[in-house]
Amino acid sequence: MSDVMIEARDLSKSYGSVAALRNATFEVNRGEVVGFLGPNGAGKTTTMKILTCFIAPSDGTARVAGADIFEDPIAVREAIGYLPESTPLYTEMLVLEYLEFAGKMRSLRGDALRNRIRKVVEETSLGEVVGKSIGELSKGFRQRVGLAQALIHEPPVLILDEPMSGLDPNQASEIRELIREIGRERTIILSTHNLAEVQVTCGRVLIISNGRLVADDTPEELAARAGKPRFIATLKRNGHSAAEIRNAFSAIEDAQTVKERDGMGPNELVIEVVAKSQQDLRAEIFHAAVSANLVLLGLEQRGENLEDVFRQLTTQETEAAS
Ligand SMILES: Nc1ncnc2c1ncn2[C@@H]1O[C@H](COP(=O)(O)OP(=O)(O)O)[C@@H](O)[C@H]1O
Ligand SMILES: [Mg+2]
Repeated sequence: MSDVMIEARDLSKSYGSVAALRNATFEVNRGEVVGFLGPNGAGKTTTMKILTCFIAPSDGTARVAGADIFEDPIAVREAIGYLPESTPLYTEMLVLEYLEFAGKMRSLRGDALRNRIRKVVEETSLGEVVGKSIGELSKGFRQRVGLAQALIHEPPVLILDEPMSGLDPNQASEIRELIREIGRERTIILSTHNLAEVQVTCGRVLIISNGRLVADDTPEELAARAGKPRFIATLKRNGHSAAEIRNAFSAIEDAQTVKERDGMGPNELVIEVVAKSQQDLRAEIFHAAVSANLVLLGLEQRGENLEDVFRQLTTQETEAAS
């Protein structure tokens, strides 16, 4: 069997005059955890609904675990566990009842159903709440119930629509850990509008803006696009020559270039240090100044970070949406 678990070819979707998705082409390989990152309204949910056969694309096609969404939607749905954006959990139902219901929807019965429930309850650490009604649970636990439901039929592919949204930082980090755990043996696409989330959870990031894919990179590659940070240090000369001062900073191992210029005050020199990659050199610059007996009057960091890259790639969309 091929290692491509999800293959989208030129997917487009319009709602009336709104082009929600335009010619999206991407692949996800077995075992990858891919982040689908974009601002609100970018087309993330639309793409996920197409892959799960909830809606049909206006154009293009997709295959999941080798099955075509048009030719074999049942096989596609069997291969996928889906956590929708707002999980339609039945708040009156007990957790156990709900998982039984979810399992029966996936044609599980008898011992097979009981075994799978036991397994997913263990996997998502729901043991202490199986007898509670879903309405009583915190958002974090409801999200686990949603994940348990998505896992009940042992799908090779998971599609999770904003699984961390609305959670407090503790709950979010628990769910993130859980997703990482689950992702060890599955293929996962998860959507988010939160950049920090994909950096820690995903091996690859697809950035979507205004219905178009604008980047397909690892978080490291994205960070490399951000350009190298520059550090601007203002120093008192204290009788040292500019060359002496420059030499003190040239010794910093991760410095790529060091330049100097006169500062605002009569006795001031400004040193600009560009890092070799994404390192934060503020501490090294401070120590270099101290060991050369220089007084550091100011230190600031300039240059783009990953958030700037994301903002640049998606600005059009953010403006349109606000
Ligand atoms: N059922 C719908 N009818 C009309 N427009 C829709 C519908 N669903 C989504 N849209 C529009 O499609 C675009 C993409 O939406 P969506 O896929 O939900 O984005 P995201 O999940 O990235 O926030 C938005 O402009 C949204 O308003
Ligand atoms: Mg959405």
